[in-house]
Amino acid sequence: MSFYIPRRPRRNRQSAAIRDLVQETSVAVNDLIFPMFIVEGAGVRSEVKSMPGIYRYSLDTLLEELKEVTDLGIKCIDLFPNYAEEKKDRFATESHRDGTMYLDALKAVKDRFPDLALMTDVAMDPYSSDGHDGLVENGQIINDATLEILGKMALAQARAGADILGPSDMMDGRVGYLRQVLDDEGFTNVSIMSYTAKYASAFYGPFRDALDSAPRFGDKKTYQMNPANVREALIEAELDYDEGADFLMVKPALAYLDIIKTLNQNFDLPIAAYNVSGEYAMIKAAAQNNWLDGTRAMLEVLLSIRRAGAKIILTYFAKEFAQLQA
Ligand code: PBG
Repeated sequence: MSFYIPRRPRRNRQSAAIRDLVQETSVAVNDLIFPMFIVEGAGVRSEVKSMPGIYRYSLDTLLEELKEVTDLGIKCIDLFPNYAEEKKDRFATESHRDGTMYLDALKAVKDRFPDLALMTDVAMDPYSSDGHDGLVENGQIINDATLEILGKMALAQARAGADILGPSDMMDGRVGYLRQVLDDEGFTNVSIMSYTAKYASAFYGPFRDALDSAPRFGDKKTYQMNPANVREALIEAELDYDEGADFLMVKPALAYLDIIKTLNQNFDLPIAAYNVSGEYAMIKAAAQNNWLDGTRAMLEVLLSIRRAGAKIILTYFAKEFAQLQA
C-alpha cells in the first residue's frame, strides 16, 4: 500500500552519500580564527576555569602550542593579553608602550610563524584600571579621547607585526580614524576586522574571567549595542564600510544569527561572527555533565553560524574542530 506522494523530501536524506551531495553549508578549518590568551611569565599554561580546554599561555608555552595549532591547519589566531592589575592605568598606557609583554609576543609569534595571520584586539579593557573599553572621566566613556589612545595601540600592534586589527571598543569613528593613522604610517596592508555589531551581552562573562577585565563600575551599554536592535546594526555596518573596514563582524554569534544574515544580505564585505566565550562555556558545561554530546553540539553551532551567512568564525572550538578533521 502506498499513497501518491510525488514529492518526497526524505529521498534526499536516505543515505550518507546522498545527504552529503545535497548538503548546502559546510565548515572548514580555513573559515576559523582561534582566539588565544597570553600572560606574563614563563612555563605558564593555566586553564580558564569557565572555559575548559582553553588556557592562558606565557610566550614560551604559546609558541609550543602554536606549533600544534598551525600543524592542524589553523591559519589565523586572535591574541588577547592578560595583564596584572599593577600594569593597568586609566589611560591603558601598557597598550602602546615600547617593549611590553604583549607587543614583544606579537613580534616573536610573527617571527616564528610568518605565514600565520595574526589578529589583535584594539580596545582599552585589558589595560584599563577601569575595566572599560574607552577612557573614563567622571563615570563617562569619552569617545574622541579614546580614539587617540586606540590609534597609538593600533600603530604599536601594526609595528609589532599584526596582520588584522580588531577594534572591539565600539567607539564612534574608530574605523576611519585607525585607517587614517595606519595609512599615514605606511601600514596600508594592515587589515581592519571591525566589531561592527557588538552587543552588550551576558555571554562575555568567561572572557572577562580569562583577562580579569570586567568593568570596575557600571556596564558597557553606552557603547555596546542593545540586544533588541537590528536596524542599528545596519547603521554601524554602513559606517564601518564607508570608513574602510575589510571585514564586518557580529558578536556574539548564536543569539544574533539574524544580524549575521542581515549584514550578509546587505554588504559585500566578508562577514565574520564571534562565537564568544559564554557560548563555548555553555556547551562545555553541558557536555561535562553528559547533558548533551559536546562534539555534535559544537559542529551544529558552527554550521548554524556559517548557514546564517558568516564566512569567518572566531571560535574557541577552532583547535578541537581542526583535530576532528585531522
Ligand atoms: C573587549 C572584548 C571582549 C571580547 C572580545 N574583546 C569583551 C567585552 O567586550 O567585554 C569578548 C570575547 C568573548 O567573550 O569571547 N574589548
